[in-house]
Amino acid sequence: MDNYVRIFDTTLRDGEQSPGASLTSSEKLEIARALARMGIDIIEAGFPSASPDDLEAVRRIAVEVGNTAPGHVDEPGSEQATLQHPPPIICGLARTIKGDIDAAWEGVRLAARPRIHTFVATSPIHMQYKLKMSPEEVALLIREMVTYARSLCADVEFSPEDAGRSEPDFLYKVLQIAIECGATTLNIPDTVGYTTPEEWGKLIEGIIHNTKGIEKTIVSLHCHNDLGMATANTLAGLRAGARQVEGTINGIGERAGNASIEEVVMALHTRRNLFNLTTGIDTTQIARVSHMVSTYTGIPVQPNKAIVGANAFAHEAGIHQDGMLKHHTTYEIMRPEMIGLSQSNLVLGKHSGRHALRVRLSELGHELSNEELDRAFERFKELADKKKSITDPDLEALVADQIYQVREIYSLEGLQVACGTMGMPTATVRLRGPDGALRVQAAVGTGPVDATYKAIDGIIKAPNALQEFSIRAITGGIDAIGEVTVRLESAEENQPPREMAQNGRIKPRLYGGHGADTDIIVASAKAYLSAINKILVAQGRNPVPQEDRARAA
Ligand code: KIV
Ligand code: ZN
Repeated sequence: MDNYVRIFDTTLRDGEQSPGASLTSSEKLEIARALARMGIDIIEAGFPSASPDDLEAVRRIAVEVGNTAPGHVDEPGSEQATLQHPPPIICGLARTIKGDIDAAWEGVRLAARPRIHTFVATSPIHMQYKLKMSPEEVALLIREMVTYARSLCADVEFSPEDAGRSEPDFLYKVLQIAIECGATTLNIPDTVGYTTPEEWGKLIEGIIHNTKGIEKTIVSLHCHNDLGMATANTLAGLRAGARQVEGTINGIGERAGNASIEEVVMALHTRRNLFNLTTGIDTTQIARVSHMVSTYTGIPVQPNKAIVGANAFAHEAGIHQDGMLKHHTTYEIMRPEMIGLSQSNLVLGKHSGRHALRVRLSELGHELSNEELDRAFERFKELADKKKSITDPDLEALVADQIYQVREIYSLEGLQVACGTMGMPTATVRLRGPDGALRVQAAVGTGPVDATYKAIDGIIKAPNALQEFSIRAITGGIDAIGEVTVRLESAEENQPPREMAQNGRIKPRLYGGHGADTDIIVASAKAYLSAINKILVAQGRNPVPQEDRARAA
């Protein structure tokens, strides 16, 4: 049995099913690039039949990430591409429905290494109440649909949904059918996070011993975290012989989430003498990918989260300091550098040039076009004037901000606020509109952010509900950049609904906005404006009011 564990990331599919998470296709593409760079073997890019947007996002990832060797750098004179890794496999999810399988194939077919992942429930509860089908009907459906998927794509993954509560004998039977019909990976999901590590290890062992032909396939694990056991179950499944792990960055996903990739990978690495298993993951990318996923999804990482929480390596400052100073191994089982956190990550300063910025951004996984680099450099210089030392997290914030601002219909030209205990919080906002004209509006609110948002609303008519607002300081110190993420639900949605893969629920479309600045009210205004711009783009509305067009003409 080989000792290589394939890492299958489903942040963009199961992760995006998290309540409140909704990613735009540019955000998905950036995350996919970061996952590829990290060495993820398979990226589940989405559920293409959910909506035309979802299909398009999967297709973009297949074309742009699924054909590029991770680490490839085009800049002349820069490091040559490291070609140890081929491009990641790009996978699309489909129910065992012909239309879903067609959509999944349409999404992934342009990748160098496409995969179709099809699933149907096999537990008595799901078959009786959700599918309203007999076990025989489900078995027949698997035969037909795996055969159909395999007629399109050489790489087919099959999942018996809710395997954790399925009858083992029925599982052996349907998995054998999937193998006969050409499935190459058999993914075993604990869909509702019900099992314990011991039970899960036994189930996987049983499947490996009792399913005819299984040695020709890769057995995969897909554990949910409803009882907090997703990582433990995944590790138990690996010890039982599985060689693919499905999970998400930061463990996001339906309900309590999925197995967290960073936890599984660091457990395998830190306890390698116990597991004797390897992965292709560059662990030094973990911190930045975690931060990117948290920023783009708007889902914060809890401070005590294993591996990537803010406190995961914070003991140096706490009561263990004495032991740590004597020898770090007294309380530290992993070095922060292993996940890409470094104590001193000062990289660039006021005198750094455009080339140095390009090289550092490229090392961080951001390949910018010349035009994008010009904008980033301009903003970098502005920041360097305010802040002496520019660190990697500062650069990440700057790039994230830029990704969010790509379609600027309205841009922030000026902002002034008055707030405190002595009067009513007031904001005056100056925006440049799509016709180039400047518009100014003042408003009073419950605080400076509320006043700013009301002033923006006074200029742009895009009714919405603010579903989430989060703010954090990226680096320590009084000159830290503040990073704001917002999620808006449009009150006038005109996009086709998005259906979720497993429960058929319609997912509300949220518009994310991001802003970064050393002034947190400015960061808040930028975040709100970028989300509003997205609503305007999505709705294809002419955002310039009639009377303003007349005035600007
Ligand atoms: O949890 C689950 O069962 C899934 C399947 C679609 C693999 O996400
Ligand atoms: Zn799942």
